[in-house]
Amino acid sequence: MRSLINVFDLSKEEVGALLDTADDIIANPAKYATACHGKKIATLFFEPSTRTRLSFEAAMLELGGQVLGFEAGGNSSSSKGESVADTARVVSCYADIIAMRHPLAGSAYVASKNASIPVINAGDGSHSHPTQTLADLCTIRRHKHKFDGLTVGFCGDLKYGRTVHSLIQALSRYTGIKIVLISPKELRLPEYVKNETIKANGMEYYETESMTEVIGELDVLYMTRIQHERFASEEEYLRLKDSYVLDMAKMELAKSDLIVLHPLPRVNEISTAVDKDPRACYFEQVLNAKYMRMALILKLLAERDCEAPAEEGEYRTDLVCDNKGCIVTTEQELPHLFRKGVDGKYRCLYCEHRE
Ligand code: CP
Repeated sequence: MRSLINVFDLSKEEVGALLDTADDIIANPAKYATACHGKKIATLFFEPSTRTRLSFEAAMLELGGQVLGFEAGGNSSSSKGESVADTARVVSCYADIIAMRHPLAGSAYVASKNASIPVINAGDGSHSHPTQTLADLCTIRRHKHKFDGLTVGFCGDLKYGRTVHSLIQALSRYTGIKIVLISPKELRLPEYVKNETIKANGMEYYETESMTEVIGELDVLYMTRIQHERFASEEEYLRLKDSYVLDMAKMELAKSDLIVLHPLPRVNEISTAVDKDPRACYFEQVLNAKYMRMALILKLLAERDCEAPAEEGEYRTDLVCDNKGCIVTTEQELPHLFRKGVDGKYRCLYCEHRE
C-alpha cells in the first residue's frame, strides 16, 4: 500500500504521470465522474484549512465517491488524548483513504504506519505539504510547459513555509533550475533543506533580502505568508509580518511572462491590485490543486494492494528529538529514530531536525 507523506514518495516519472492525468481530467471530466463510486475519503483536519480540505472533498465528490471527517482536532477524540496512531487505525475501519492535516511534523508519517489504508499528508506542521506541491507543479507546467532551466524565486517566510520546502524538493529533480531565496534573515530556508536538497543536487541558488533587486530575473515568483501560528514570539511576528508586499510597482520590474504563485491564504503579501494582472496565477493554482488531488486519489486507490517501498537507511535510536513541533514530543510511546542523511548527519525520522 502506498501513502504520500513527502514529495520523494513519488518518483519523478510518477509526478509526470499525475500531471498528465490532471491534464486529462481537465480536458475530459465526464470520463472520471464515477471512477471512485463506492469509495470514501476521510479528511482528518486537526488544523484549520480552507483549500486543502475542501479540495480533497471536492476531488472525491467529482470522482463519484463520498467524504467523511472532521475539520478541527477539538471535534475529534484527540481532544481527549487519543493518539494519531489510534486515530489512523480507527478511521481505517470507515474509509478507503485518509487526507490528514496536523500541526505536528511527522504526524502523517505516524498515521501511515498505523493505518491500513493509504494516507495523504495534507500538511504536517512546518514540515511538508506535498499535495500543494503537486498543484504548484501543475500550474508551472501549464504555463511554462517545462521545469528545466527555470529561475524560481521564493519570497516571504522560507523557514516555516512547508510548501516552500516541498516545492524546492520537487524542483531538485529537474536540471538547470536556479533558486532565488528572498526572506528576512530570521526566516531563511532551514539548513537541512539547503544541504539535503539544494546543495546535494548541485542547484544554483542565492539568498537575498531584496525582492526589487531580483524580481526582474524570475520566471516564477512563489510568494508565501509569514506563518503567524508558528512563531514563539508575537513581537517578532509583528516586526516581520509585512516584510514583503508584491504590488503593481514591483510587478512592473518583472518579466512579461513571469508567473506569480502563492499557496494561499494570503494576508497582506500580495496587493489585490495584482489579481487582475495576467501573470497572477494563484487562483488558478487553487483549481489545479483539485485536479491533482483527483489524480492522486485515483493513483493511491488503484495501488492499494502494492507493497510500500522499503525504508532504507542507517538509523540511530540513542538520540532524542527536542523539536517542540515534532510528533515524537507529544506521542510519548513513539520511539525516537534518527536516519543518516546524504551529508552524514542524522535527522529525526519524523520532523527532519538534526541531531
Ligand atoms: N494552501 C493551503 O494549504 O491552504 P489551506 O491552509 O486553506 O488548506
